[in-house]
Amino acid sequence: MKTIGLIGAGHIGSQLARLAIANGYAVVISNSRGPETLAPLVAELGPHARAATPEDAARAGDLVVVTVPLKSYRAVPVAPLAGKIVIDTNNYYPERDGQIPELDNESTTTAELLQAHLPTSKVVKAFNHIQAAQLTTDGQPAGSTNRRGLVIAGDDPGAKATVTHLLDQFGFDTVDAGPLKEGWRIQRDTPGYGPRRTAEELRNDLAAARRYRDS
Ligand SMILES: NC(=O)c1ccc[n+]([C@@H]2O[C@H](COP(=O)([O-])OP(=O)(O)OC[C@H]3O[C@@H](n4cnc5c(N)ncnc54)[C@H](OP(=O)(O)O)[C@@H]3O)[C@@H](O)[C@H]2O)c1
Repeated sequence: MKTIGLIGAGHIGSQLARLAIANGYAVVISNSRGPETLAPLVAELGPHARAATPEDAARAGDLVVVTVPLKSYRAVPVAPLAGKIVIDTNNYYPERDGQIPELDNESTTTAELLQAHLPTSKVVKAFNHIQAAQLTTDGQPAGSTNRRGLVIAGDDPGAKATVTHLLDQFGFDTVDAGPLKEGWRIQRDTPGYGPRRTAEELRNDLAAARRYRDS
């Protein structure tokens, strides 16, 4: 059984934990307040789930999801994630995260910030543009008519193939936006950010996206 480590167990982290368990993975979940605060979620998830520190979740995961408020990304442990695939769900909300100048001037993207923090990890941006509740309601088997698509971006083709397989298991088609630096095409306020879209519709949304400075 493969293990998914989760750093962050809020709206998105808890939902991804549910999907992972439902699809035969073990999960190790973590938050900022300590494993004991996750006892109700662990009880709900069952015997293949446990709570841990972020370091332990990072170490335990064959694949690890970072799903904390963006302002906290520098707290993500670096050493235990070396060489691993790390899924980044994060978005930039200045009212929550404070102003981040390199995102304000669009000289980088949220997932590139995490990649710079985790230089030897293989960061793949995913799950950033779907509401948490829909993660467990919108998935459908491969080949379903009008199956929902989700966008990924990343610099490592092998890591992207693994995440594409995971998305398929979770019930979603994948649209590859390209390298991490193209992740802005699915950032807050772009056409594909939020609504339910098929893969074909998402491809059009990515092409129609405008930089904040151009919109
Ligand atoms: N909500 C959505 O529908 C949605 C959809 C797509 C993407 N996103 C993005 O995904 C990210 C997570 O969103 P969310 O809604 O799941 O947030 P959330 O409900 O506020 O949960 C955040 C989680 O991160 C944990 N955390 C905070 N600082 C941490 C640290 N230093 N180390 C370990 N864990 C830490 C929190 O733990 P404590 O509670 O113990 O502090 C909590 O479990 C954000 O960037 C958000 O923009 C959200």
